[in-house]
Amino acid sequence: MTESPIERLERLRRESEQGGGADRIAAQHAKGKLTARERVQFLVDDGSFVELDRFVTHRCADFGMEQQKFQGDGVVTGHARIDGRPIYVFSQDFTVFGGSLSEAHAAKICKILDQAMKTGVPVIGLCDSGGARIQEGVVSLGGYADIFLRNTLASGVIPQISCILGPCAGGAVYSPALTDFVFMAERTSYLHITGPDVVKAVTHESVTSEQLGGASVHAEKSGVAHFVARDDRECLAQVRELLSYLPLNNLEDPPFVATDDDPLRREARLDSLVPSDSAKPYDMKEAIRLIVDNARFMEVQRDFARNIIIGFARLGGRAAGIIANQPAHLAGCLDIDASVKAGRFVRFCDAFNIPIITFEDVPGFLPGTAQEHAGIIRHGAKLLYAYCEATVPKLTVITRKAYGGAYDVMASKHIRADLNLAWPSAEIAVMGAEGAAKIIFRREIAAAADPKAEEAKKIAEYRDKFAHPYHAAGRGYIDDVIEPSSTRPRLIAALELLKNKREQNPPKKHGNIPL
Ligand code: HXC
Repeated sequence: MTESPIERLERLRRESEQGGGADRIAAQHAKGKLTARERVQFLVDDGSFVELDRFVTHRCADFGMEQQKFQGDGVVTGHARIDGRPIYVFSQDFTVFGGSLSEAHAAKICKILDQAMKTGVPVIGLCDSGGARIQEGVVSLGGYADIFLRNTLASGVIPQISCILGPCAGGAVYSPALTDFVFMAERTSYLHITGPDVVKAVTHESVTSEQLGGASVHAEKSGVAHFVARDDRECLAQVRELLSYLPLNNLEDPPFVATDDDPLRREARLDSLVPSDSAKPYDMKEAIRLIVDNARFMEVQRDFARNIIIGFARLGGRAAGIIANQPAHLAGCLDIDASVKAGRFVRFCDAFNIPIITFEDVPGFLPGTAQEHAGIIRHGAKLLYAYCEATVPKLTVITRKAYGGAYDVMASKHIRADLNLAWPSAEIAVMGAEGAAKIIFRREIAAAADPKAEEAKKIAEYRDKFAHPYHAAGRGYIDDVIEPSSTRPRLIAALELLKNKREQNPPKKHGNIPL
């Protein structure tokens, strides 16, 4: 019996669903990983996925490849909905040539990137790939470059999210690196430029893939990973949550999500959060949770540069990007990693119309040769640059220390913050009282009968004069000094007032951020 056209279509569809076959699918499951299609189904709203290019196959005729063709060529692509909002997605299929990137595979990814750009819709890439399709040579490298170009052109236009859910080596690392957020799954994913064999040959180091580029390495040491999940499912759920804070593109505002958390809620616990001894740490995350809607804070890069906190929350239903010094780690000082981490986050928020709220308690930049020689001047300037150029609503709350250059950097009034508030515990000065007194009263202290007592006296004198917010408030650098408990209503009122804020930078091709 001959096959009808409809039967043929159904057969080809069924074949495409098989990926590299039952054995390879079983091997994928045995590693604790979902298949490419299962991942898409888990990520998106039920029944919303529309697949494109499922019949595409590779065009390679070397090494017997013409005998081995799989529908879709190792990547599932299409569009779908998440919480009812559109997204484009590609999901690499490790069961087909190890998810390696061929010319045809790359063209499928480029097609959805092009469509996403035209329609202003975010792209989510689920990566699980052995890198360039070795049998195709330079054609595959060209495919990577085609993707890199599109990632770069799409940057700042549509949110781009990468989930690393398996190997990701060689050139495969640079597409995720160009996107806005990188998610990794523990134990099953790794990202590195060269694998353990090359490392051994060149540097004689013996390392595993996990030690070289596993999830914890990129979450804690390199800062490449923004989020880490226990497995595929948790990772995909995190992506859905992240998207809830983001607009579809740079011409839209983030979604408003009505809240049952009272916008006028005053939080008495904030009034006693900052210790009276200004050398004592406290947890700034507690302040954030007490202020935002329903204590819900989606932290980004939680385990990297813990002296600064970044993440998303809502206040009165409006999404905001939170940047906060963390006095509980390295006293909340700014160092290279913290500057780069926060600088990139400020730029993301600015590109996508997400207001920025800064909670400040910073004793200054971290001193020392290690930081100076590694370029704290250059890297610290990234954060300064990012805050200066940002035109979204910028709200700043100084909870305690705002010292030195760090005062300027952390969304001060001088660099176009819209609302600058201080808690009564704020200390706004060129430097801490001890350092300041020792410099400006050096002669008096040395000449005193009891230099120690004189030093203590001068420190107290300087502290009385400057360790409060009223000099800055007297100049109008601080718009108001408020009870900590009233922070939430004040910020929500400001977000409402500023929702139509329009500010523009001078026309230019692009600025020259100190990279
Ligand atoms: C073609 C590949 C492949 C590749 C894996 N496969 N990588 N096929 N091109 N790059 C195939 C294998 O032949 C195998 O086919 C199947 O995928 C699964 O691979 P295994 O090795 O059996 O799986 P596993 O043991 O889990 O190891 C996964 C792996 C390993 C670590 C990814 O396969 C590996 O090291 N692959 C090569 C990685 C690499 O060097 N890629 C090139 C990077 S250079 P069968 O038929 O047996 O199922 C690069 C440059 C790009 O990417 C630069 C752009 C700027």
